[in-house]
Amino acid sequence: MALIGVFDSGVGGLTVLKGLAEHFPHHDFLYLADTARLPYGTKSSSTISSYLKKNIQFLKSHKVDLIVVACNSASTVLLNSDEDFGVPVFNVIEPGSQSALNHSKNKKIGVLGTRTTVQSRAYIRTLKKLDPEVEVHQMPAPLLVPLVEEGWIDDPLTSMVVYRYTKPLLDLGVDTLILGCTHYPVLYSVFQKVTGRDFPLVDSPLALKEILKEQWPKLMEEGSHKSTLQIYCTDLTPHLEQLIQNLIAPLSAQPIQKVDL
Ligand code: DGL
Repeated sequence: MALIGVFDSGVGGLTVLKGLAEHFPHHDFLYLADTARLPYGTKSSSTISSYLKKNIQFLKSHKVDLIVVACNSASTVLLNSDEDFGVPVFNVIEPGSQSALNHSKNKKIGVLGTRTTVQSRAYIRTLKKLDPEVEVHQMPAPLLVPLVEEGWIDDPLTSMVVYRYTKPLLDLGVDTLILGCTHYPVLYSVFQKVTGRDFPLVDSPLALKEILKEQWPKLMEEGSHKSTLQIYCTDLTPHLEQLIQNLIAPLSAQPIQKVDL
């Protein structure tokens, strides 16, 4: 069985981890939340690059078989790196882009993300590489991360913010929306209220599943092994601990550990 390392700047990547644990139930997971350095989405590429390397080294020291960089902001940096980390490292931008193209009929795709992700233009470059005819419209949505971290999911204020960010993209005619940040899938039903239920909202876990299945067929092997989950955080508070428990439910993890990186 494989040990899959997943990291994010914070707890949002648990949405990715949960999806992967559902798709690959016979493998073990190690999740690193770099909560001491959160947010990544407002930082420069060079700063994120040094965090990326430290996080990958940490996961490698735990002998993971592969690494998923769940954080979109860190994935934009990874995409520009040709470093060989000595272990397969997957980003979330390429799978998300491919999945969006599979869904879009009019080839107009909207992308919501942090400022770092939007300014990097990583989704635009990746989508255009896959299909030069695609039209991409981006919108930074910086208020959504703190709202999710605050647990304001089912809240009229959050619905208004989601509407403010999403409506301009819909007005531009996009027929598919990439939720380009780990935290946004938590607000899936809020987005659906704005876009309508049948509107394709692309989130990382599903898109990643397809790529991992293809590139790492071993993950599809059936078995009786019951998956384990270890969670490490670079900073830990009672609020964070509660948030983690809420986000991973109904999964359970071994006691959360704090680590200095
Ligand atoms: N995990 C980040 C991302 O997906 C969002 C939170 C942050 O800004 O660090 O871009």
